[in-house]
Amino acid sequence: MSDKLLEIKNLGVEYISSHLGNKIVTHAVDNVSLDIKRGEIYAIAGESGCGKSTLSKAIIRLIDNISGEIKYDGKDVYQLNKSELKTFREKVQMIFQNPYASLNPKMRIKDILAEPLIINRNLSKSEVFRIVKQKIEQVGLNESQLDLYPHEFSGGQRQRIAIARALVLNPEFVIADEPVSALDASIQAQIINLIKDMKQEYDITMLFISHDLNVIRYLADRIGIMYLGELVETGTRDEIFNNPHHPYTKLLLNSIPNIHKQPDKVDLTEIPSELPKGCKFYSRCHNVDCLGKMDKPVYKNLSPTHKVLCCESN
Ligand SMILES: Nc1ncnc2c1ncn2[C@@H]1O[C@H](COP(=O)(O)OP(=O)(O)OP(=O)(O)O)[C@@H](O)[C@H]1O
Ligand SMILES: [Mg+2]
Repeated sequence: MSDKLLEIKNLGVEYISSHLGNKIVTHAVDNVSLDIKRGEIYAIAGESGCGKSTLSKAIIRLIDNISGEIKYDGKDVYQLNKSELKTFREKVQMIFQNPYASLNPKMRIKDILAEPLIINRNLSKSEVFRIVKQKIEQVGLNESQLDLYPHEFSGGQRQRIAIARALVLNPEFVIADEPVSALDASIQAQIINLIKDMKQEYDITMLFISHDLNVIRYLADRIGIMYLGELVETGTRDEIFNNPHHPYTKLLLNSIPNIHKQPDKVDLTEIPSELPKGCKFYSRCHNVDCLGKMDKPVYKNLSPTHKVLCCESN
């Protein structure tokens, strides 16, 4: 059994839309390669629109046309037959950003939690209820709340329910796409701790997506920094936080608020409207010697676990 549960090679996803009769192609994910090992938390960080959610949708086969390859447990996700796809969808679960939209408002909590078990497992009613009760208690809620509807809960409680739902089928791999960004700070901390506990208890492998580097520092084993669809730097948590190389990684790290230091005044929304021929970060890069205007950077290995896509490192 390989220690790599997920292997992504040269993944590309394009969205094609039109504006005033002109075809617009967005390279939402561009030549992304990464591996996630069994049992680890791999985090993806990057600003809004850089392709984080598109990457997670591609992994769970919610996107029809991709280029490159995504292998889960050694099998190409886009080549799975019907029964393999059913098993894959049981093993891989997702927690979404918005706990208000991700739970069906017309269903009671007990039915929301029971649904995956009824569809995927041939269990008696009492066994389904036993699992539902166990999961709701594990996320810090109680049996008496199972008869309520989603609107009767707070945002933090709804995210607990979404986590319980992701756990009912005992998944191997969970993708959490900005699971706490819709919650206030104190509730965020509770949910992050819950995710950490659940990960340990169930020995889950995780892809954790967030723009909040403080959360990532607390949770992640390895990190990928994403910029305009590309992974510009990947490394262990210590490599990214203690020895960042890409100017974009440094910019993200310098913008973390800290009680001892004001965050740098950087405009993180300053995404170029037209991409240069070479490095996508060129227009925001402060390195005067940068060759990225015309030349596409290639990945350089800084250590067996640390890679950077930057002309400066070539
Ligand atoms: N269905 C779609 N059709 C066309 N373009 C899309 C579609 N979905 C996303 N995009 C575009 O693809 C790019 C990546 O979007 P994506 O949602 O993956 O970013 P993200 O990193 O998850 O952003 P956020 O942090 O705001 O959630 C953006 O430019 C976005 O506008
Ligand atoms: Mg997103």
